[in-house]
Amino acid sequence: MQATSSLSDLREIRSSMKGSFGLVPTMGALHAGHASLVKRARAECSYVGVSIFVNPSQFGAGEDLYKYPRTISRDLEMLEGLGVDLVWTPAAETVYGEGFQTWVTVDELSAFLEGKSRPGHFRGVATIVAKLLNIFLPDKAYFGQKDAQQTAVIGRMIQDLNFPVELVVCPTVRDGDGLALSSRNAYLSPSERKAATVLYKALCAAKQKYEDGERNAELLRREMRSVIRSEPLAIEQYVSVADPNTLCELEEISTHALLSMAVYVGSTRLIDNVVV
Ligand code: PAJ
Repeated sequence: MQATSSLSDLREIRSSMKGSFGLVPTMGALHAGHASLVKRARAECSYVGVSIFVNPSQFGAGEDLYKYPRTISRDLEMLEGLGVDLVWTPAAETVYGEGFQTWVTVDELSAFLEGKSRPGHFRGVATIVAKLLNIFLPDKAYFGQKDAQQTAVIGRMIQDLNFPVELVVCPTVRDGDGLALSSRNAYLSPSERKAATVLYKALCAAKQKYEDGERNAELLRREMRSVIRSEPLAIEQYVSVADPNTLCELEEISTHALLSMAVYVGSTRLIDNVVV
């Protein structure tokens, strides 16, 4: 495995790799969710690259940029063990050089859900992913369903800007009790960690109602809200039953729906989703 923080070294190493290339973009503090993306890439591509970069432009003022967990030596060990070929760990100055002023915005898909709660977030995400695609020139790029809106935004960007890359979306990896793995779970105290299972419980309760025949989206939202309210440490930021492609809120579910939510558990903001 070759790891570098230099852009010119990265490009040089990458250009020597002939054969299909899979990229897994990350912000580090790697867990089994990230590993599942890497394993999928390893199974499908001749070469696998991973970026580790806590991207400042996708964090809002007052968000957790400065306390975001950074575990670089453990991350590199894990990636080595997974058979990764190339890791890029750039400094912020390398990514956003002096005078940087070019941004990628995906208008409509960024406006709902996470975008509403975190203005500017998807502009930062789309811009860094566009840069990573231009730098790594992958054939396939791997993302997690855990961040459903992120995959929708990136899919749209890839299509709209004609990036010659295939987007691969991988299923959400969960702990035994259902909590979706997230680098931010590290912020939770033991009691908050227990309370955090409420997100998946609420999603499962709504999914069960759907499977029992309920198609009224508002009743599914109510079901999720009532489960979240039953947990004293949890405060809902939003719950949504939306069209998985447009992310517009639904009244009735005719085919598929994305059930999603953002919930504060203590001061930690967690997101999760399921598709029905
Ligand atoms: P990060 O949160 O580090 O996640 C990197 C990738 O891992 C994303 O595609 C995310 O959806 C996926 N992932 C996270 N938790 C997962 C889980 N429990 N199961 C499956 N996949 C999971 O998402 C980002 O970083 C950034 O926004 C990034 C795309 C790197 C741009 O900065």
